[in-house]
Amino acid sequence: MRKLIWLLAFACLPTVAVAQNAGPDWAYPVGPQGAPPRDANKILKVPGSDKQYNEVSANDAFGPADWFPNEHAPMPTVVATGKKPDVRACSLCHLTTGDGHPESANVAGLSAAYIQRALREFANGRRKNNRSPVMATIAKAMTPDEMREAGEYFAARKPAAGYTKVVEAAEVPKSFIGEGAMRFVSPATRRSRSAAASSWCRRTR
Ligand code: HEC
Repeated sequence: MRKLIWLLAFACLPTVAVAQNAGPDWAYPVGPQGAPPRDANKILKVPGSDKQYNEVSANDAFGPADWFPNEHAPMPTVVATGKKPDVRACSLCHLTTGDGHPESANVAGLSAAYIQRALREFANGRRKNNRSPVMATIAKAMTPDEMREAGEYFAARKPAAGYTKVVEAAEVPKSFIGEGAMRFVSPATRRSRSAAASSWCRRTR
């Protein structure tokens, strides 16, 4: 009987390894590869902010846009500008607020201990999926102090009210994975459906 249990345990190992490495495709989709070209002459502005960036400066991995500096506490260096060459600024993808781009995680209000543990697990390879290599590179190059500072900063944030809009609908609209590996509502669906359905889970800012 004991032998049988060991056999079963070994039989299960490959399955466990695959599950840890991949993650479901719908949750961890692979987007179009390579960043689109950015235009340094294209000036960007957003309503309510007196700041101005161009497409290149807004996407600077070591000093990305900070549209509303008065709406957050002073950022630790690692969040605001990162550390060259491998620690891209956290605010590039998680935003200065931690609310995050749709393709990255929302880290606002997670506990500081959880954030530090997640970073350690990205670094040591225990957390792996289609989307984790970006975080693994960053976390491996971070010091424990940088992990703590980033963790404490994002833990102190409250997720912004209304940032994610959830709409209940009978069916989830058809979507596709576009630039930045973000999921967009497909144009055909948008035309044919009501405004409520097409705004399913739309990010408002
Ligand atoms: C280039 C984009 C990018 C940058 C820069 C970035 N992240 Fe991430 N981060 C991601 C993506 C994508 C994920 C989702 C990966 C996954 O789920 O495996 C993620 C996930 C995380 C998570 C896990 C959240 C959860 O709910 O478990 C934490 C914590 C995190 N990032 C912290 C940071 C910190 C701290 C920095 C700055 C030092 C940073 N990230 C910089 C893209 C980025």
